[in-house]
Amino acid sequence: MGRVRILVAGGAGYIGSHTVLSLLEAGHQVVVADDFSNARPAVLDRLGELAGRPVPCVEVDLTDPGRTDAVVAEHRPEAVIHCAGLKAVGESTDAPLRYYRTNLDATFSLLEAMRRHGVDRFVFSSSATVYGDHAPVPYLETHTPLAAANPYGRTKVMIEQVLTDHAAATPGLRVALLRYFNPVGAHPSGRIGEDPQGVPTNLMPFVAQVAVGRRERLAVFGDDYDTPDGTCLRDYVHVVDLAEGHVAAVEHLDVQATPVRAFNLGGGRGTSVRELFDAFCAVVGRELPHEVVGRRSGDLPAYWADTTRAADELGWRARRSLEDMVADVWRWQSQNPDGYPA
Ligand code: UFG
Repeated sequence: MGRVRILVAGGAGYIGSHTVLSLLEAGHQVVVADDFSNARPAVLDRLGELAGRPVPCVEVDLTDPGRTDAVVAEHRPEAVIHCAGLKAVGESTDAPLRYYRTNLDATFSLLEAMRRHGVDRFVFSSSATVYGDHAPVPYLETHTPLAAANPYGRTKVMIEQVLTDHAAATPGLRVALLRYFNPVGAHPSGRIGEDPQGVPTNLMPFVAQVAVGRRERLAVFGDDYDTPDGTCLRDYVHVVDLAEGHVAAVEHLDVQATPVRAFNLGGGRGTSVRELFDAFCAVVGRELPHEVVGRRSGDLPAYWADTTRAADELGWRARRSLEDMVADVWRWQSQNPDGYPA
């Protein structure tokens, strides 16, 4: 496939911004659409600096169908990568309507605009959370029924279903569902990375903020699980690997085995909280403050991806190690202790 004009919805966010850079490096043309509700405009300057040319961006609320239509009409993308959405599990339990409305409406606006303007390639940011609490490990794309334990996760399950139904009714539409495991890491330049607003709820950004002194100590949520060191195992995947997974998926859409296809994007192995924390301390060069506290409700002891399908069909696999992940996060966080400039 040659050069493709791609609209990246949520392209100023953590995963979106790394995806934009990988798409540009692969020779594609990109337009970012973002409402900056959980991203900073400074990201675009950094992307432009890294890409060596300005990255076009439209500020738009994608839940607004009219405005979304206008963006698609103006920029005429040939593919849409949809990484826009609310993603905090705890917040989704407190504000379910906001999560269902935002995540579903943005998807509806994009799909309707695509239909109106003849855009037939779609890549969706899904999550390993769709496997629910009972799937056998490692998780396989063929597992059913999909389920999720919180409203955030259920928006992913619902959108996968919407896309499946819509594709069945829309000849020519090709959809890749990318089920991310635990994205971490940052671009090796240290210029773009994860910049959560408020107190981070995920492990890696929390540890990184402890390392720069923004948080006092890491609370390890339980060390009495039935795992080798008692802490939970997750499948961490470097965000640049993940970004390259989007490039592979969008380039593969035309020859995809089925109109809608799910792909696990993970490293294919479990890493414990303790291992990740120790690797981070090693790169910082000192023991970081931490304490073991009780389990966090809803956490599963251990899961990771079976990544055979992505390897066989997309030719993609995660290449970067845990050491790369922590070194790149440390570079980003130490160079930008307070994240992006406001
Ligand atoms: N953890 C801690 N202390 C912290 C934060 C996390 O010990 O301060 C532990 C958790 O208990 C868990 C592991 O670190 O064992 C990873 O936790 P994260 O919050 O980083 O990630 P999760 O696996 O819980 O969540 C991720 C995504 C969600 C997604 C979920 C299920 O962040 O979006 O996987 O797929 F819904």
